[in-house]
Amino acid sequence: MNKIVINGQNSLNGEVEISGAKNAAVAIIPAAILVKGVCVIENVPHIRDVDIIIEIMDKMGAKIEFIDASTLSVDCSNMHLASVPSDLARKMRASYYFLGSLLGRFHRAQVDLPGGCDFGVRPIDLHIKAFEALGAGVIVEHGIIYANAEELSGTTIYFDTVSVGATINAMLAASLACGVTHIENAAKEPHIVDVANFLNSMGANVKGAGTDTIKIRGVEELYGGSYAMIPDQIEAGTYMVAAAAAGGDVTIKNVIPKHLEAITSKILETGVEVIEYDESVRIISSGRFHHTNIKTMPYPGFPTDMQPQMSAFLATAIGTSIVNESVWDNRFKYVDELKRMGAHIKVEGKIAIIEGTPLTGAVVRSCDLRAGAAMIIAGLVAVGTTTIEDIEFIERGYEKIVDKLKSLGADITKITANGILPEDVIECEPSAQVY
Ligand code: EPZ
Repeated sequence: MNKIVINGQNSLNGEVEISGAKNAAVAIIPAAILVKGVCVIENVPHIRDVDIIIEIMDKMGAKIEFIDASTLSVDCSNMHLASVPSDLARKMRASYYFLGSLLGRFHRAQVDLPGGCDFGVRPIDLHIKAFEALGAGVIVEHGIIYANAEELSGTTIYFDTVSVGATINAMLAASLACGVTHIENAAKEPHIVDVANFLNSMGANVKGAGTDTIKIRGVEELYGGSYAMIPDQIEAGTYMVAAAAAGGDVTIKNVIPKHLEAITSKILETGVEVIEYDESVRIISSGRFHHTNIKTMPYPGFPTDMQPQMSAFLATAIGTSIVNESVWDNRFKYVDELKRMGAHIKVEGKIAIIEGTPLTGAVVRSCDLRAGAAMIIAGLVAVGTTTIEDIEFIERGYEKIVDKLKSLGADITKITANGILPEDVIECEPSAQVY
């Protein structure tokens, strides 16, 4: 089991480049199944979730390969299988996007119930509602979802809850349907717009993405083309918060500032300086900052995927902060790990009360993807050495995070499963080591 070791208290300085958006990539790559031709997709991040999707599509008959560092060529013209290999499907949440794309292309799909981060119940009833509204029959048996349709017909789909996944899946299944589909109470995240833009660049007719109502006019066929994905809003936010917490002067490049508005606003409330440029943001921090309050909401509200990172930041703020997680039932599992580092946090249901205090290094684990990022942020500011276990969660969604932070001056190292400590990891003096 690989680990990350951090000797804390270094400030962060310099520039870091943001990769393509994970939550766009895990939808756009399966969406290529709808296309009878070659899709050239640029700005694809090299992360474990993308690797799994590539492996799935290769096994299903797609011709899929990186043609340069971040450009993926996908040709599903000769794809024949409509069932996703079970062992791979269960490795990630986003495998549910194969339902929408396979149903849209072949009018049948077989996908295991998805895996993914464990922070409470993760139903897919809204996805099934969308497919059934379009005319498909859907059953779930022995942990496998089976969807079949004679024909897919345009309809109106109203989502009781704003759902990113269900909104995207409805777009995928409706793109080749007969007639017009309206999605009401749609999610508005940047990656929703990115998927719609990808589909349109391949010949689809999707309007209104980014608003509450999306209108899809089904077309006969999608042909090949090329598309460049958006940068990752959450990766960018993670580095913004890391720089704010550790102190220093960091420019985060290849971002869309509009997508970061809620994160920027909250960091500014703590007294840290944020300067916006056309395609970058700059964080200037003394490492001392004030408390603030957070309530996670669907976009354009404060993103739930930034909640753990923000809590790790606020754990060393001056004063007491309140964090309200309104999207997921149980997204505070990481709090116990922060408490091992001396954090003063009390969780009451969906509310965390965070009383700022200095942190000390400890051995902690990554409960999930964003919790792992929170552990890194805590390790950067803690006094002493922090060892983070289960880092495969982190590698699902952050491209080269150790290299990127090391380039900014962090004392951070990934150690391999057989425990080799590279010579550049300097052990703290025993007296300084605090557990
Ligand atoms: C996507 O998950 C993201 N994952 C999550 O990011 C993110 O936290 C979430 O959207 C919210 O922004 C991917 O894009 C792969 P939802 P998803 O459907 O689609 C309820 C990360 O860290 N709901 O928007 O699964 C659900 O319980 C990951 O990158 C239903 O009730 O989330 C939740 O309360 C973690 N029925 C709310 O909707 C359904 O059928 C929002 O979930 C589906 C969802």
